[in-house]
Amino acid sequence: KFEQSDQLLPQCWLVVRVDGRGFHKFSERHEFAKPNEPRCIRLMTLAARRVLMEHRSILLAYGQSDEYSFVLHKDTNAFNRRASKLASLIGSLFTSAFVFNWSICFPDRRLLYPPAFDARAVAYPSVRTLRDYLSWRQADCHINNLYNTAFWSLVLRGGLSANQAQERLKGTLAADKNELLFSQFGINYNNEPEVYRKGSLLVRASLLDSQVDAVAEEASVGDNVPDVGEASVEEVSEIAAKVAKAEAESASTLLHIDIIKDKFWTENPRILPLDSQ
Ligand code: GTP
Ligand code: MG
Repeated sequence: KFEQSDQLLPQCWLVVRVDGRGFHKFSERHEFAKPNEPRCIRLMTLAARRVLMEHRSILLAYGQSDEYSFVLHKDTNAFNRRASKLASLIGSLFTSAFVFNWSICFPDRRLLYPPAFDARAVAYPSVRTLRDYLSWRQADCHINNLYNTAFWSLVLRGGLSANQAQERLKGTLAADKNELLFSQFGINYNNEPEVYRKGSLLVRASLLDSQVDAVAEEASVGDNVPDVGEASVEEVSEIAAKVAKAEAESASTLLHIDIIKDKFWTENPRILPLDSQ
């Protein structure tokens, strides 16, 4: 037997992270806005929603830049917890949904070549280590977005070359970049859109307790739209009922909030129960 077992440890929270391959080039070729392309963020979130719809053991997903992390319940037995199955299925569904929905988000821009996303599965032994992981991804979002906002302000508005902007920012702390943005460009970084500063969190709506300001989005092509063909009236209403049930069960809420601090997690204790490991 040559096939190796790659079952992830039991009773650990599982995370599958997908990350765009060579998105530096992909964003250039597709003329993404700098530093943030809202249409790509929308597309990434549509693709992530599709993954949540398909894989019910996912509790939440967190996305920023060209990546999305999917968190599966520690008790899940999906695909026998095999790392390769989980990563390849989620990675390929995410990729195909990204391509499938491209024209919704970029109606006037052709997809120039097929994008790819790598995917890996990791097990976290406790809520604490899982929260540390999510905090790390949101901190990464913050650090990169502050840097990119300052960098592109210097280049696009300050007239600096890329090298000059890089030199100008070398060794600066967060406070220095905030100050530079404010004094030179009148930008209060804290007023920048939350979607850029905090990234995107998709949570199973059924697990939320606090009143949250969900972000409205358009639907994705093919989402729960059954091909009813020549079906009778009864058959159609039966299909519609099934679709409504599937939609309710799979509903996820989009948020752009702080997930590093305790507030969100203590207000919504059913997502990652504090008493569980
Ligand atoms: P690999 O993941 O190692 O294959 O390389 P990568 O080129 O994808 O780099 P990485 O994943 O580290 O970073 C993502 C890159 O995507 C960023 O460095 C940006 O160049 C680009 N990117 C992501 N989101 C946006 C966006 O909204 N606008 C623009 N202009 N670029 C973006
Ligand atoms: Mg990448």
